Amino acid sequence: MKKFLLMIAATLMAVSCAQNKTPKYLVLYYSQTNTTKAVAEELCKRLGADIAEITVVNPYNGTYQETIERCMKERESGELPEVNPIKADLDAYDVIFFGYPIWFGTCALPAISALKSIDLSGKTVVPFCTFGSGGLEVGIREVKTAQPKANVLSGYGVRSARLEAMPAEVDRFLKEGGFIDGEVEEYEAFSAVHPASEAEVAIFNAAVGTYPMIQEKATNVASRAIPGGTEYLFDTNSPGIKIYVIDLDGKDPDFTRVVR
Ligand SMILES: Cc1cc2nc3c(=O)[nH]c(=O)nc-3n(C[C@H](O)[C@H](O)[C@H](O)COP(=O)(O)O)c2cc1C
Repeated sequence: MKKFLLMIAATLMAVSCAQNKTPKYLVLYYSQTNTTKAVAEELCKRLGADIAEITVVNPYNGTYQETIERCMKERESGELPEVNPIKADLDAYDVIFFGYPIWFGTCALPAISALKSIDLSGKTVVPFCTFGSGGLEVGIREVKTAQPKANVLSGYGVRSARLEAMPAEVDRFLKEGGFIDGEVEEYEAFSAVHPASEAEVAIFNAAVGTYPMIQEKATNVASRAIPGGTEYLFDTNSPGIKIYVIDLDGKDPDFTRVVR
């Protein structure tokens, strides 16, 4: 009887240890020009995660223009680039940080190709991406569509032009998500939306500057104080397109992402 009770206790302990165990993290990413790779490496360092790269059998190693042209042909034909087998045992991980550059408004084709070749059912997936102007939300939707049985969480995205801000943003993102320990200063809620004043329009114009892909004009805005300055969320004259802008002390206003 004593032996039997000990066996039950040992089984219960094993189950509870399994439930409380630290999740195993894998950072899985595609990067053509190393911007997303920088985010992947930062995540890996902060999480103590394993890392694996998605590589293409016939790599996009031409110029930016050549990549655009090849990519346009592939998108038109619906033919995804073949990716090499991933050098990681995905079954061994609980949480996959899945990273990619934004191409044509969504995940880069090699990332879509990889997503279609693996099964992340039952796993937690945290998307992350880099972009020229935006695409975080559309990319996450793409990941959800490709992996409907995964628990896809909200993700992190950064403009390639703001990569120097990434380590601090990743730190906050990981702490907010409970992936690493530490306190974060809570941001206040955005103010009510109101028509942008002349001063606010000037901040918007300075932030988007001459960025070639942004033709939008600011209409309404909400704002809030953030450490070291103000964050704005502008509505634009293009329905559904919103632009986040930060105006930090001692720095020029900059946009952080376009939401489409
Ligand atoms: C083929 C191609 C398409 C792109 N399309 C977009 C886009 O639609 N929106 C955007 O904001 N950036 C776009 N970019 C810019 C990349 O997302 C950005 O440079 C990214 O940081 C590159 O990441 P990587 O260095 O990891 O490859 C595109 C870049 C390429 C090469």
